[in-house]
Amino acid sequence: MKPKLLVTREVFDETLDYLAQHCEVESNQQDIPLDPGTLAQRLRDKDGVACCLTDRIDDQLLASCPQLKVVANIAVGYNNIDLAACTARGVMATNTPEVLTDTTADLAFALMLATARRLTEAEAYIRAGQWQGWHLKQMLGVDVHHATLGIIGMGRIGRVIARRAQGFEMRVIYHDPVRLAADIEQRLKATYASKDELLAQADFVILQMPYMPQTHHLIGAAELKKMKPSAILINSTRGGIVDDAALIRALKDGTIRAAGLDTFEGEPQLNPGFLELKNVVLAPHIGSSTEATRRAMAMTAAKNAVAALTGGTPPNVLNPEAKSNK
Ligand code: GLV
Repeated sequence: MKPKLLVTREVFDETLDYLAQHCEVESNQQDIPLDPGTLAQRLRDKDGVACCLTDRIDDQLLASCPQLKVVANIAVGYNNIDLAACTARGVMATNTPEVLTDTTADLAFALMLATARRLTEAEAYIRAGQWQGWHLKQMLGVDVHHATLGIIGMGRIGRVIARRAQGFEMRVIYHDPVRLAADIEQRLKATYASKDELLAQADFVILQMPYMPQTHHLIGAAELKKMKPSAILINSTRGGIVDDAALIRALKDGTIRAAGLDTFEGEPQLNPGFLELKNVVLAPHIGSSTEATRRAMAMTAAKNAVAALTGGTPPNVLNPEAKSNK
């Protein structure tokens, strides 16, 4: 008998075709988000789940599905999963690193350019029929080229952003709990800085670390005050890393110049303060959303799930020790 797997949100046909070769698949191709009760009920008899960052996988849920062997997240971030609870209950958890690195770095760069050059504000101005003609001081932005870029979180995506910054001849400084080896710093032309030094010097601050209790409100009122009034903040990693209420105040009173945001506290609900501001570029958590990358993410998760359900070790297992706890 094939193992039973639930796919919690709509995926691509090739993902389902692949999964169906190995599993009895129940999928949610209508893409209706499953509330926690429905998710628990549909997972009760399943051996595996391919899920998204919108699904909360916590101990209570795991307790109600004793057959579960694998939680395959279709995302690189996994703060929606209680990893310790998975390990304790012998459930392997996996994510989708690598396949989305370049695409997500592109979006961070796009937000930086769009915010610096006021692109969404400019488009809204045209759509509102306000454009009367060219003038010298129209929509003055700031330069990205030759500016100082501060990257907080120098993992896979942070490093690729640093590489892109070389093309814009930016000066790159970075902060991370773990300093890079000297040869990597050299290759990336990135200089290590303390968090405070980075905040004080950067024209653009890009956040690129995972969300966890230690990174909750890593950027709040005090940190925003340390930034230059001309600085721009980019958050395309996770909501909750920035204190959104403090950011709105800082954008309103000129503590910093602008922000480009793809992720929000409590998304998809948004602090309504953002909608009143012109100096913010907003995107609905689309960092990895190109067709090729989303297809690759779904297939990576499918392969992780199948590996676990056929007795193997998934390539992207986050808690290999879980296997011995089942
Ligand atoms: C998207 O936010 C991801 O973590 O893959």
